[in-house]
Amino acid sequence: MQSKVTEIAPDTYRISTFHPDSAIQFNQFLIMDDEPFLMHTGFKRMFQATLEGVRSIIDPAKLRWIGFSHFESDECGALNEWLGVAPHAQAVCSFVGAMVMVNDFADRAPRSLADNEVLQTGRHRLQFLATPHVPHCWDAGLVFDKAERTLLSPDLFFHPGDPEPIVESDIGGRARDAIHGSLDGPLAKDMPYTPYTDSTLERLAALEPTTLAVMHGSSFRGDGRKAILDLAAVIKTILSKPEGGS
Ligand SMILES: [Fe+2]
Ligand SMILES: [Fe+2]
Repeated sequence: MQSKVTEIAPDTYRISTFHPDSAIQFNQFLIMDDEPFLMHTGFKRMFQATLEGVRSIIDPAKLRWIGFSHFESDECGALNEWLGVAPHAQAVCSFVGAMVMVNDFADRAPRSLADNEVLQTGRHRLQFLATPHVPHCWDAGLVFDKAERTLLSPDLFFHPGDPEPIVESDIGGRARDAIHGSLDGPLAKDMPYTPYTDSTLERLAALEPTTLAVMHGSSFRGDGRKAILDLAAVIKTILSKPEGGS
């Protein structure tokens, strides 16, 4: 496995590793700044590929922050490997994530962020949004880079395959097809539709992001508000009923 690196927004690098067995991409995002920030660690077993991708941009020892949305292996499985190569790095996650899992899991204590707390990394101001159960998991959160209006949106807009690094259209259609396609598969029910789903997605849309950094599939550049509201409508239609809305 090899990672491909693409700058998708100023100082924002997508490190993409295609996993042939699962036939999906696992994308990490590095925001270069005075205090470099890596979003998602990738799987432990993909660490070398991700590490080489990061090394093509920066000396990994200079990483300062390692963020992720929720406690799953593609999000934070290689956290301790990263903490091993980056002596000044610290995990950042939600309060719930730290309290319930990461305080125990991580080799160094994480920094937990409150809802709306801003992490200043230099030029970039990273707003943390606690988003329980969006895309999934109690501890979920997302990160919005206020400097470049980039929303780091793990698992939202999921679509399979090994597509291009960034697109300017059709991300919603791909995500809709992927949600439909997974309804009968072994990984069905990955995203719950809860009393908080609509309001959380509306809150994300109101940020008016211009880039959506997608963990599995192409990133998106364009009207992020519209893309998120369109996705919210799809999620409501398909996932708000037990039979998948059909
Ligand atoms: Fe996930
Ligand atoms: Fe994921």
